[in-house]
Amino acid sequence: MPNDNSSKQTVLSHVVGYQEVVDHQQELIKSGTDLSEQKGHVANTIASLHPKRLQLTVTDIVENTPSTKTLRVKASDGRTLPPFLAGQYINLFATVEGSDTARPYAMSSSPAQLSYYDLTIKRATPGFVTHHLLDAVKVGDQLTSTGPMGTFYHNPIFHGEQLVFLAGGSGIAPAMTMIRDIADQNKPLSFHLIYLSSFETDIIFEQELRELNEAHDFLTIHSLVSRPTENYQGISGRITLDKLQEFLGEGDLNERMYYICGPTPFNESCREQLTALSVKPRRIRIEANGPPKNPETLDGWPQEVAAEKEITVTIQGKGSFKARVDEPLLNSMERNGYGAENACRSGECSLCRVKVVSGEVYNPVEAKLRKTDAQYGWCHSCVAFPTEDIEIIL
Ligand code: FES
Repeated sequence: MPNDNSSKQTVLSHVVGYQEVVDHQQELIKSGTDLSEQKGHVANTIASLHPKRLQLTVTDIVENTPSTKTLRVKASDGRTLPPFLAGQYINLFATVEGSDTARPYAMSSSPAQLSYYDLTIKRATPGFVTHHLLDAVKVGDQLTSTGPMGTFYHNPIFHGEQLVFLAGGSGIAPAMTMIRDIADQNKPLSFHLIYLSSFETDIIFEQELRELNEAHDFLTIHSLVSRPTENYQGISGRITLDKLQEFLGEGDLNERMYYICGPTPFNESCREQLTALSVKPRRIRIEANGPPKNPETLDGWPQEVAAEKEITVTIQGKGSFKARVDEPLLNSMERNGYGAENACRSGECSLCRVKVVSGEVYNPVEAKLRKTDAQYGWCHSCVAFPTEDIEIIL
């Protein structure tokens, strides 16, 4: 019977490129190279490609619409920024009114160049961090962020070559970077953008999208405005089932991959309509773009709990504070000086998990909780809403 080591060698020998690595290692040993130094080299290379923190300088600010600006940021040390996949985001740290917090923003620039990232930021209402970024940040300011992260991108192995992107409001940012990526790198993909804005004056990248549409055959765009003025000439109204069916036209809808990014009600409505058109769940990817607003309007919210209700959050061994039930737990923690590691702030990455020892928490559909989380009382604090007094462990 083969021992463990020989079975491992047999398996490894089938891995493509394994023998080349072994040969290279032998050469290095023969030439007297210290392999432990090589290990450090690998670790350093990985750290430079996937840094935990980036120091950035704002080099330009462009006003896209009255409610949206694009901040162009470069590495403060003048180096090239880490690579990213079109659709990924960085988590931008900020101190606002004395609270240390952070918000994720998808790059809207092309990943084909890494001399800068563009971050397209729309004013949230009510807002906190977006007001700071849009009103207080100026050219020359220093910012800190995580490296690029997230799983909302085209996977060429599983997603196929026909991409459909349903964007609501600032959800256009990851769509823009995907379009620029395909154009810049001549990728053999088709891209169909269905883009909903509230007002004509809110259409982010209107001019750039028009120019890209004229220049590239791979791109199809349907732009809608839900609350147009009387004279608006374009398509009015929300994305209904009829409209979606008409835009998507003939052909097997399950051959396409659907990316949805916008506010929670927009995302859920798009998902429902695609499902009604018999699109399989595995063909649909959703990026939540932040915690849901008005959680009291969502499925599963306890009807007897009013949005204005105040509860007490106690952090075991540390202290307690008051919070409204419609504020995400992570936000109220940060407001009161208690941080937790975080990145996506939309329920997906699980970095912000905290353990709830007592009391009820509402977890919306965004919270990608594991089965054992519910069993052992863990919640994703960025999208968790305590609906009564709770005690947690940080
Ligand atoms: S920060 Fe990612 S799940 Fe909360």
